[in-house]
Amino acid sequence: MTDAPSYAAAYGDWMRDPAAYWAAEAQGIDWIRSWDKVFDPSLGAFGQWFAGGMLNTCYNCLDRHVEAGRGAQAALIHDSPMTDTVTTFTYAELLDRTERLAGALASLGVTKGDRVVIYMPMVPEAAIAMLASARLGAIHSVVFGGFAAAELASRIADAKPKVIVSASCGLEPGRVIQYKPLLDAAITLSPHKPDACLILQRPQAQAALTPGLDHDFAAAMDAAVPHGCVPVPATDPLYVLYTSGTTGRPKGVVRDNGGHAVALWNSMRMIYGVDTGDVWWTASDVGWVVGHSYIVYGPLLRGCTSVMYEGKPVGTPDAGAFWRVIAQHKVKVLFTAPTAIRAIKQQDPEGALTRRHDLSSLQALYLAGERCDPPTAIWAHELFGKPIVDHWWQTETGWPITAGFRQFGLFPFKPGSGGRPCPGYDLHALDDNGRVLSAGETGNLSLRLPLPPGCGPTLWQNDEGYRTSYLSDFPGWYRTGDAGVVDSDGDVWVMGRTDDIINVAGHRLSTGSMEEVLASHHDVAECAVIGARDELKGQAPMGFVVLKAGVNRPEADVAAELIALVRERIGPVAAFKDARVVARLPKTRSGKILRGSIRRIADGEDAPVPPTIEDPAALDELRALFGG
Ligand code: COA
Ligand code: AMP
Repeated sequence: MTDAPSYAAAYGDWMRDPAAYWAAEAQGIDWIRSWDKVFDPSLGAFGQWFAGGMLNTCYNCLDRHVEAGRGAQAALIHDSPMTDTVTTFTYAELLDRTERLAGALASLGVTKGDRVVIYMPMVPEAAIAMLASARLGAIHSVVFGGFAAAELASRIADAKPKVIVSASCGLEPGRVIQYKPLLDAAITLSPHKPDACLILQRPQAQAALTPGLDHDFAAAMDAAVPHGCVPVPATDPLYVLYTSGTTGRPKGVVRDNGGHAVALWNSMRMIYGVDTGDVWWTASDVGWVVGHSYIVYGPLLRGCTSVMYEGKPVGTPDAGAFWRVIAQHKVKVLFTAPTAIRAIKQQDPEGALTRRHDLSSLQALYLAGERCDPPTAIWAHELFGKPIVDHWWQTETGWPITAGFRQFGLFPFKPGSGGRPCPGYDLHALDDNGRVLSAGETGNLSLRLPLPPGCGPTLWQNDEGYRTSYLSDFPGWYRTGDAGVVDSDGDVWVMGRTDDIINVAGHRLSTGSMEEVLASHHDVAECAVIGARDELKGQAPMGFVVLKAGVNRPEADVAAELIALVRERIGPVAAFKDARVVARLPKTRSGKILRGSIRRIADGEDAPVPPTIEDPAALDELRALFGG
């Protein structure tokens, strides 16, 4: 097998001189002041990119395209089968809305460095709020709508926003989710209170506004004076995005302005092969990193048309919804999670619905958020006859670590592999002592420092947490938390997390935080949550609880209460629907719960009895529970 020569050349260019490589890529961004150093190793946890440079990310996403004469080009197409509407915003229109919202936020006191929490469904105003915050040099923190009030509260408490932008409701199939009661409850729970909330009233539900705190979004926009772009140091934060960590407390991943703009601008063409004027669709949610990078910033930095979709892969109205969107908007490249393709495949295994639509515009399908299982990749490949590219990354990195590259000619299709390292990442599998493993050996996938531009330089006001979470296990390396192997071709195979994080329908969740909720139930003595294999969602959480001595209640009642409790504390997105009462949990003699063994039994795999087990009968009981 031979490499596409230009991948090898680009990777080699980067390896030989990273500063020159990134300085060349940075030419794609408009700078107010050029950097003093492409990379300054003396700053931050491992150094910082484009130190001394000044720019404004919103300017690079909007103003410069309008100034270049592309104001009439579509920037954002909001396609909502939930409301049966399609709304197109040209670059000029999106700029107009953003300038006004920036003005409205400024009139509420938001200035450079202030935080703005955005708790919104998939409406265009969510993207506009992100851009408006960037315009002011403020720092946004978007919270996914499927989280419960307590999760929102913990993010408000940590980010300490001056203003929160929210909406009256979100729309899920068959139900209207009232956001305002969740927001009010979160503000009550949080020790930090915002100065003001801007509430978008949607026709499906009107929210009662609290005088003195809440402001009507539309009225604020009407009254607003358009605001210009505030120059921001390249190393200043653009946003904080909270993600699941190995404890119940979410981690606030910081993204800087300069490195982020350069990395995303570069990735749009190098990885995905799209450029100015191309129509690009990421079917995800702005609450996740995929939505930040590839619904909003990446495509707009590059001058593409980005489709923002408020709907599901199935049921809105059927499993042909994605094909309808591709045909209607002439989408060139689609990016989504494998779970969405599995959902479609389940309902339309022959792909009959694809034949109702003209999919000739589609050139490639990119998948991420979880490993794409080979049967799904092969099904999609045979159906479209177009490249299906699995690529691996995480909230912390902000853009892909490994991928297939349309700019260089894609690698041969290897279903189950996540592609090869992007220029910028020196990736290796390490053993537990930090020794670099040979090709084909499984280990801790780790990145040699420094991380490239765009990767989170720290956690929000928690440098020490960043070091201990990612940098301290293997000095000189960033530990991704994923296990995997690099094969002899250089292709990377990601096997799964080495910590308690699970991926449910492409959503990153912590089993530790679910265990905290289960443990808080008055009848529970101890518990374990694992991610069991799930046909549709990849993984699904499953809880096992031991009841306190003397508790003699129907197990079904306790299980129902536990399911309700996780939904109330973490939110529906946890998809926690399976709780089982057991007599005991398998443990080592030192008292560590053998979660790996529980998971293997739940998945119907062999679970050898570990030599350190305290009581082997506990495994037999679990096997009996699963009919093994
Ligand atoms: N606001 C409120 N509730 C939400 C929500 C939101 N933004 N997003 C999801 N939920 C709810 C769902 O309605 C569901 O509620 P239920 O338990 O009452 O049915 C629950 O959270 C779990 O959602 P999900 O895991 O997404 O399951 P689903 O059955 O609704 O949909 C898929 C399954 C596969 C169709 C869906 O997960 C999907 O489209 N995934 C695409 C992948 C994706 O966007 N990944 C993001 C990272 S790339
Ligand atoms: P998130 O931070 O939500 O993007 O989740 C990141 C985690 O999802 C990674 O650490 C992986 O465990 C998993 N993940 C994302 N994309 C892939 C992929 N293409 N292949 C395997 N795992 C993936």
